[in-house]
Amino acid sequence: MGADHARILRADIGAASLAAVHDADPVRASRVAEASGARLVGDASALIADPAIDAVLIAAPDETHAPLVLACLARRKPVLCEKPLAASLDGCRAIVAAEVDGGRRLVQVGYMRRFDPGYRAMKAVLQQGGLGLPLFMHCVHRNAVGPDYLTSELVIGNSSVHEIDVARYLLDDDFVAVSVTSPRASRKAPRRQPHLLVLETASGVVVDVEAFVDAQYGYDVRAELVCENGTVSLAPNPPVSINADGRDGFALAPDWRGRFEEAYRIELQEWVASIASGNAVGSSAWDGYVASATAAAAIESYRTRSRRAIELDRRPDLYRGA
Ligand SMILES: NC(=O)c1ccc[n+]([C@@H]2O[C@H](COP(=O)([O-])OP(=O)(O)OC[C@H]3O[C@@H](n4cnc5c(N)ncnc54)[C@H](O)[C@@H]3O)[C@@H](O)[C@H]2O)c1
Repeated sequence: MGADHARILRADIGAASLAAVHDADPVRASRVAEASGARLVGDASALIADPAIDAVLIAAPDETHAPLVLACLARRKPVLCEKPLAASLDGCRAIVAAEVDGGRRLVQVGYMRRFDPGYRAMKAVLQQGGLGLPLFMHCVHRNAVGPDYLTSELVIGNSSVHEIDVARYLLDDDFVAVSVTSPRASRKAPRRQPHLLVLETASGVVVDVEAFVDAQYGYDVRAELVCENGTVSLAPNPPVSINADGRDGFALAPDWRGRFEEAYRIELQEWVASIASGNAVGSSAWDGYVASATAAAAIESYRTRSRRAIELDRRPDLYRGA
């Protein structure tokens, strides 16, 4: 993700320049630095502390997020941190508390689907009001072949969190309960069951998420809102139908980088613009905490095979109306 963000920053974001790069792996770091013309820095703290650096983008593994974001907040630097906000709920809470102490929103979490033109168009249709109130949201999140290290906990906590965040964004609502149920494992991936999350919102919408990382045929993300007067769905992306080999159908991107290329670009454009304007955009640290707390309840539901209530901390004033 870091290399991808660096490429997009260099190619498409005229209002910012990538000044410096750090990676624990010096070979990867120098590859990105060479491709982007950025300075190589051997230490993350030194990069964050450097007065020549205006803002920081973090795309290191989940466990590094909390200490690195806290270091950015200590220097009062805007930071775009990849999702999830932190590897633990305590880490999320520490970030929220530090940001509230500073009195200003500086953290954006990398839930890029909020910038995807398809989800934004769904939200616009919902806000026009003609469809009435939403009742259901059906979500599908399929990967072709997931890596061996993906456990059920990671599938829910690292992948389904995208649906959790984007459903909150679309519905403007919080989840109050979750149940996870699982069919048998596919014979193509016998060690890992797919999952179905059923989430209930405070205002009474039911959201289901099929999380299936071994679907074989490609990367496929779908969403449909079912409302009182009709439905609105994500269109296939890219929206071209191909006729070949006796078939008529839509091509699928091999993974999220292709499917959400435009969302990543708009995310960075709007993040950079928000630094200049001082008006934060996207998922806040609070949204990051809520997504992780909701995912933690879903993991608990999966482990205990029971419906779990979702109890959130009190939302600090800094995030009211955000
Ligand atoms: N928004 C999205 O769609 C999306 C997609 C994929 C990954 N992600 C997130 O991006 C982050 C990175 O995922 P990835 O798939 O690129 O992982 P990756 O393993 O491919 O890359 C992580 C990089 O971080 C480096 N690293 C490890 N420890 C470090 C440290 N302490 N300090 C600095 N660098 C360190 C590694 O050397 C590696 O180059 C994760 O948090 C992941 O959840 C988000």
